[in-house]
Amino acid sequence: MAGTMKQVVLAAYAQGNPKSSDFRLEEVPVPQAGEGQILLRTLWLALDPLIRFSLDEKLISGARHMQIGEPMFGPTVSEVVASNHPDYAVGDIVETRTGWYEYAAVDPETVDYRGPPRKLDPELAPVQTALGALGMPGQTAYAGIVDTARVQAGETVVISAAAGTVGSLAGQIAKILGARVVGIAGGPEKCAALLDLGFDASVDYKADDFEAQLDAALPEGADVYFDNVGGDVTLAVMERLNRGARMAVCGFTAYYGDGMEGPGPNKLPGFFRLINSRQLEIKGFAGIMAGPEPIEAIAGWMKAGRITFPEVVVEGLEAAPEAFSSVFSGNSFVGKLLVKVAEAG
Ligand SMILES: NC(=O)c1ccc[n+]([C@@H]2O[C@H](COP(=O)([O-])OP(=O)(O)OC[C@H]3O[C@@H](n4cnc5c(N)ncnc54)[C@H](OP(=O)(O)O)[C@@H]3O)[C@@H](O)[C@H]2O)c1
Repeated sequence: MAGTMKQVVLAAYAQGNPKSSDFRLEEVPVPQAGEGQILLRTLWLALDPLIRFSLDEKLISGARHMQIGEPMFGPTVSEVVASNHPDYAVGDIVETRTGWYEYAAVDPETVDYRGPPRKLDPELAPVQTALGALGMPGQTAYAGIVDTARVQAGETVVISAAAGTVGSLAGQIAKILGARVVGIAGGPEKCAALLDLGFDASVDYKADDFEAQLDAALPEGADVYFDNVGGDVTLAVMERLNRGARMAVCGFTAYYGDGMEGPGPNKLPGFFRLINSRQLEIKGFAGIMAGPEPIEAIAGWMKAGRITFPEVVVEGLEAAPEAFSSVFSGNSFVGKLLVKVAEAG
């Protein structure tokens, strides 16, 4: 395919939270599918917070390390527009990890460490749900609530970043299991949206009376904490955990710009005191390891109308830098944040 395409490259390593000026839009030739490769046209791009792990000058965790000037990587849903591979035909819609560019020529065997691009059936569900409820975030919400936190009916579950992709799903799954669910989010609109999703109570961590709101929402403390953020929100929740409470550590967005040592006072002594005195069970987990069961379960609940999955769509690759930065610095988005790059067909 001749012509040029847009792509977004890393212009500067992130200092703290990413900024839109850390990225640059470029126009480059459309790549060609080589031997054994397929050419993918990007339809949808997900701006998952985990991409932040790749943007430190010195790699901290085991994430992929982006180089300056390199096109950004990211989870995508794409259409096959040329194929030199027997397993893929023109017109197939697939979910994989390519990046912030309009076309990608990839070897299906090596493009994504999780395996070859997953073919999607547009008749079963809107294809972009493969980046949210019916993909890795759905696996994560289910694995955290069902396997890691082992939520039981009648328990009180607190969820941070509850209006985000994983949090909004985790809360609804906990409700299906019979728990009382309290969501924490930033701002009154997001808190109202949580109640619309069926959460029993919501708490605004940006409000001056955050701690009082938390007390009011947790008159009998909490048995489970599904943590997406860390930071001050987590320190406040931990003080309200009941003896023997379980904490599923899904993410720690508040610290993603901090490296291994935060700038503030050392709060580890208080943290350990709470773990010991309350006999807390704290466990990290990787949702991606959860296999197909969560996706099947969530698909069934969505079909039965028991799970609603909100999506926020921003249009065009050029919108990606600002939208991605807003994940860390505040936004009004409820549910899955997606970039619509192109229409299928
Ligand atoms: N363990 C795993 O396998 C796994 C898999 C997927 C994701 N994760 C992690 O799970 C977390 C949620 O992912 P997601 O895809 O649901 O994210 P998301 O949809 O992008 O939502 C992120 C939300 O986090 C909130 N937030 C950001 N900084 C915050 C801070 N300093 N304090 C409190 N809240 C903050 C913001 O909402 P507000 O406006 O409410 O602040 C933001 O919209 C992330 O940490 C992600 O890395 C882990």
